[in-house]
Amino acid sequence: MSVQTFFPTRIYAAPLQRQPWKPFNDRLLRECLQLAEDDGAGQRWSAKSYPGGYTSYGSVSRMQQLSPTFAKLEKLLNRHVAKYAAALEFDLTNRPLVMTDCWVNIMPQHVTHSLHLHPLSTISGTYYVQVPRGSPGLKFEDPRLERFMAAPPRKADCAPESRSWVTMPAAAGSLLLFESWLRHEVIANPVARDRISISFNYSWF
Ligand code: NI
Repeated sequence: MSVQTFFPTRIYAAPLQRQPWKPFNDRLLRECLQLAEDDGAGQRWSAKSYPGGYTSYGSVSRMQQLSPTFAKLEKLLNRHVAKYAAALEFDLTNRPLVMTDCWVNIMPQHVTHSLHLHPLSTISGTYYVQVPRGSPGLKFEDPRLERFMAAPPRKADCAPESRSWVTMPAAAGSLLLFESWLRHEVIANPVARDRISISFNYSWF
């Protein structure tokens, strides 16, 4: 007999760059904090759509076109996205994956980012700028969950690939990539320090 595994869901995790990563990360951090202070439209958008937190998703969502620092981030991310696309065995002949959106998220204590996916894009991800000890990672949901119907629950100690939810740790200086259809969330930040990240989408043109 054989039991084979098909239809895998792949998540990519890596440090953005080798040492020294901190000087560039500090530049990003300063620009994230400055943007949160200056972006009135984003503050109003966040008050409605991201209560307690700040995101530039609804206001300044193409940071890679506005800031040389974010343009450098895009360049560094391109290499990771290429590696991830290779792992996914995408055929990208004549149609490259290109960054379309890149925005800032600041998550203070008690703020949550509920389950969602990223429509109209191919690969999405997040780079972590500041992750205080004890603040949450990124929680992913099995994309087949709504079809499980009468499936029994999994054993508490089951293998990671059998779980219905997986939380990937977030660490400053590192990134996560996933396919944009994969639903994910960030549970409430329990610590009294801001969790700061930069999210982005790549589309297939
Ligand atoms: Ni997201």
